Amino acid sequence: MSTPVVQLRDIRKTYRNGDLEVHAVRGISLDIHTGDFIAIMGASGSGKSTLMNTLGCLDRPTSGDYLLDGVNVADLDRSARADLRNQKLGFVFQGFNLLARTSALENVELPMLYAPRRVSGEEMKRRALAALEIVGLGKRFDHLPSQLSGGQQQRVAIARALVNEPRLLLADEPTGNLDSKTSVEVMGVFQRLNEQGITIVMVTHELDVASYCKRILVVRDGLVVRDEPVQNRMIAAEELAKLHTAEAQAKLTTTPAA
Ligand SMILES: Nc1ncnc2c1ncn2[C@@H]1O[C@H](COP(=O)(O)OP(=O)(O)O)[C@@H](O)[C@H]1O
Ligand SMILES: [Mg+2]
Repeated sequence: MSTPVVQLRDIRKTYRNGDLEVHAVRGISLDIHTGDFIAIMGASGSGKSTLMNTLGCLDRPTSGDYLLDGVNVADLDRSARADLRNQKLGFVFQGFNLLARTSALENVELPMLYAPRRVSGEEMKRRALAALEIVGLGKRFDHLPSQLSGGQQQRVAIARALVNEPRLLLADEPTGNLDSKTSVEVMGVFQRLNEQGITIVMVTHELDVASYCKRILVVRDGLVVRDEPVQNRMIAAEELAKLHTAEAQAKLTTTPAA
């Protein structure tokens, strides 16, 4: 088997507030392979964000090893970690985090501005448009976030996360601000990307959202207490087709005859 994208070995993270120690992560070991699609679940305070921040190279563990694509993150200084993050990782957030007065296209171009390798303006535009096409928003490239629905804004954010062709896509409650139908649409985008080989890790509070993933990790008190494949996996395209049929039927029965 090829080298895992992520290898965590006995990761621990202790926060110190004066005399108080908080053991946010208490020894997590985990491999994530290319093509994985993982939901991290667990109660508030269980350590999900700490784990995601570790995976995202935003925070360094107190002890343990984290190999990202075979590179030991602990050996890197701040700027090397920033480069690694930019090259290997894509981030999607609950609140989309788009720049408000900036078009979809320019939002997606942004990570390329910080890429260690310089990218020409023309190539940035080409790659940003290609990423927007992937999430089905190629025609809306010149829209501002305020001119897009929540689901469309999240798809722009996904395009932005994809544009540097990351090894791993990290999403912290990406459907947390979306209604249930829009959530299914966004999960459909993630499922399509995953079928194309993109490795995804997301945090979610909702079991039905997690059921679109392939593997569920449950975190409790800083430990992974469950790590299982998803049973009866949901397929977003099928669920959306069912919703559309139901909507069409509802319309037929509520529209009075002409
Ligand atoms: N920067 C911090 N300083 C001190 N304690 C923290 C900090 N970040 C998180 N914690 C504590 O670590 C534990 C795990 O937090 P977190 O990883 O945010 O959990 P979750 O995302 O599952 O809600 C909690 O007890 C939280 O209060
Ligand atoms: Mg959290």
